[in-house]
Amino acid sequence: MSPVRLLFVCLGNICRSPTAEGVMRHRLEAEGLADRVELDSAGTGAWHIGEPPDPRATAAARDRGVALTGSGRQVAPEDFDRFDLLLAMDEANARALRAAAPDAVAREKVRLLREFDPESVARGDLSVPDPYLGEDGFTNVFALVDAGCHGLLAELRASGRL
Ligand code: 4NP
Repeated sequence: MSPVRLLFVCLGNICRSPTAEGVMRHRLEAEGLADRVELDSAGTGAWHIGEPPDPRATAAARDRGVALTGSGRQVAPEDFDRFDLLLAMDEANARALRAAAPDAVAREKVRLLREFDPESVARGDLSVPDPYLGEDGFTNVFALVDAGCHGLLAELRASGRL
């Protein structure tokens, strides 16, 4: 089967989406599924192109055994072809992606990561809040993203894609 291709998307591509990418890679490696899924992350904004993940995000992930990799890049038009799902961290990211999507098929690839976590859906809270200007949001980001990735992996298995 062809690999599942997932793109995690936030605003700056230095905090939330690299965390999601790192968490998902960690989970896939732990389950022997790393070669079945292609992962990347990107930002809707252009401020941090070429930069490594924010040191606060890197530290929060490292404390939980997860390495963050990559450097910031902006979402590109080809991403709607290259990926099966574009997983937005919040509704503003999702709106920006839908506005940039070239057609309806591309638009339907845009989802919120936390939609895949049943507890988040039950609470009606689907946003991974932007931690950039706060001091203590990074632990929360990690937990929310981890739950979303767990749910997404379960959904991919349940639907027979993994
Ligand atoms: P991220 O966090 O979207 O989770 O990477 C942000 C990083 C930088 C900025 C905003 C959010 N910024 O405005 O520069």
